[in-house]
Amino acid sequence: MTTIFEQPSFIEAATKFFGRQRGPEELARLFAIFRVGEHHAVITIGDWLKSTPELEVKTGFSRLIWDEGRHTQIWTQRMAELISQEAVDRLYPDPRQVAFANTEYFRLWDEYGKADCLPKRLAYIYVVDGWAAIAYSVYLNHIDPVTKWHLQTILTDEHFHVAFGRQMAEKYVMSERDKDLLAREEEKIAAILLNVTDGFLSSEV
Ligand SMILES: [Fe+2]
Ligand SMILES: [Fe+2]
Repeated sequence: MTTIFEQPSFIEAATKFFGRQRGPEELARLFAIFRVGEHHAVITIGDWLKSTPELEVKTGFSRLIWDEGRHTQIWTQRMAELISQEAVDRLYPDPRQVAFANTEYFRLWDEYGKADCLPKRLAYIYVVDGWAAIAYSVYLNHIDPVTKWHLQTILTDEHFHVAFGRQMAEKYVMSERDKDLLAREEEKIAAILLNVTDGFLSSEV
């Protein structure tokens, strides 16, 4: 599936957004927004673990939880290095929340949490992480060396998550009903992500 996020117009808009000069406070605010997504993934995939009978998928989910936890940790650490731990505790006490005027961004994580069967869950993993991977790839060209080093690690993980989601979908999404659920969920997520992206790229962050 080639998404809209791989189109030149998206890359161009993302390059403009990520290429903007930002001081430490602005960077911390941006990383706080990234962190919301990473941390929601930890919580949501953690919730899914128990109700996923397929052992291979369960094992993969365990790695995803660990990875997303590490990503949450990395962004938190960078925020503290930029603006101090005291400022992070005061301004960004809860990694699930941040003052960001984009309701679609939060709706994405709410919808993610509602995925109640394997086809829907796998769609979230490879579509949302595919989107994150493209955004992070663009950002790699505009970031300071320390964050870049961390971001490369995160990016490698996200690429693994996308491949894992797709492989599991190929293997376990077999029936027509499940294939239909997967396709519908993909469409739904792509529509939300389009709004999220518009909100992101036009925001002042
Ligand atoms: Fe992540
Ligand atoms: Fe991920």
